[in-house]
Amino acid sequence: MEFAKRLDNVTGSAIRAIFALLAQPGMISFAGGNPSPDSFPKEDIANISASLLCEHGSSILQYGGTPGIGSLKNTVIKMMETRSISAKPDEVIITSGATQGIGLAAKTLVNPGDVILTESPTFIGALQTFLTYEADVKGVEMDDDGMKMDDLEKKLTLYRPKFIYTIPTFQNPTGRTMSLERRKQMIALCKAHNVLILEDDPYCDLRYSGQPVRPIKSLDEDQLVIYLMSFSKIISPGLRVGAAIAHPRVIEKYNIAKQGEDLHTANLSQEIVNAYMLSGKAEPHIEAICAQYRDKRDAMLKKMEEWPKSITYTKPDGGLFIWVDLPKHMNAVDLFKQCVDAGVAYVPGVHFFPEGGHENTMRLNFSMASFEQIDKGMDILKGVIEKNI
Ligand SMILES: Cc1ncc(COP(=O)(O)O)c(C=O)c1O
Repeated sequence: MEFAKRLDNVTGSAIRAIFALLAQPGMISFAGGNPSPDSFPKEDIANISASLLCEHGSSILQYGGTPGIGSLKNTVIKMMETRSISAKPDEVIITSGATQGIGLAAKTLVNPGDVILTESPTFIGALQTFLTYEADVKGVEMDDDGMKMDDLEKKLTLYRPKFIYTIPTFQNPTGRTMSLERRKQMIALCKAHNVLILEDDPYCDLRYSGQPVRPIKSLDEDQLVIYLMSFSKIISPGLRVGAAIAHPRVIEKYNIAKQGEDLHTANLSQEIVNAYMLSGKAEPHIEAICAQYRDKRDAMLKKMEEWPKSITYTKPDGGLFIWVDLPKHMNAVDLFKQCVDAGVAYVPGVHFFPEGGHENTMRLNFSMASFEQIDKGMDILKGVIEKNI
């Protein structure tokens, strides 16, 4: 069988491969990036689905429009106001998760060989998509305040990229948040270089400490930003609902590109999300999951205080991840095998870097494991690290 060459350099997500190991009985996972399964508002969604289907079944079960259901678009526009982003209906398209918003950016903007700049490290799913569209992905160095602007400026001049992909808030994989100052600098640089920004913001509402930082999109007077939001982390990833907010010309292209992918995001999912957001239950629900994740983050960070001092790690104000830098001589890919044998899994950091390397890094997720599992798993991890340090 002869497959298309465009996939020659694309491998399946390393995390999905790690998922297979997690099925082993007793395995404690700090690997995935999933919301906690007990965070889902199952009963409310069951009730909403039943009444939606009884009352509007004929239209919900019919084909729908590609841009999405008008009432959900209005709900998204209202949510955007709370993020200081003003959007009109022709600047919004409902997507099947932020994942589709990333794919549509690549599909509508990238020709083979075009450069995309990303944080280094960045989200594996985006890397995989960009490679599928034969982009040349270049990483921009980051520190605790997000992408480093001197490196960004150098690479904007050197590579003349198609766009910059950034996760400025509670970044996957590092948990870091880009400072407001850097966000302003990024907009100014992109204006000067006439480069678009793809701002991926699925973790925005999962804040456990510190003050909110405005999205880059809210600082964008020239419509340079394509902003992606998602309901995955606040309601359910299985419903597959998100949205892209951008200049109407971008949305029009997204609309054309989406038609050939899935025609539209499932009507039932869109209606459920809209009804849930309007029910008055979403806000207390988000508060409750934030409280739970805050405690889990704190439990994990507390265990890390006992780690050898030569190990550094991020202390995120939100999101789902902690990023670990082991001493340079250590290799988190090798440690991974020992850890899995001992019953705990994480994701080796090397997979998140566009140019590879950084074998001494790892990503830990704190949302999926129970408190008992965090306690036990972190002890196991500490034991393996101390044996190898
Ligand atoms: C940065 C980032 N973008 C997008 C996604 C996917 O989100 P969605 O479920 O909305 O497609 C994830 C999920 O892990 C993510 O971490």
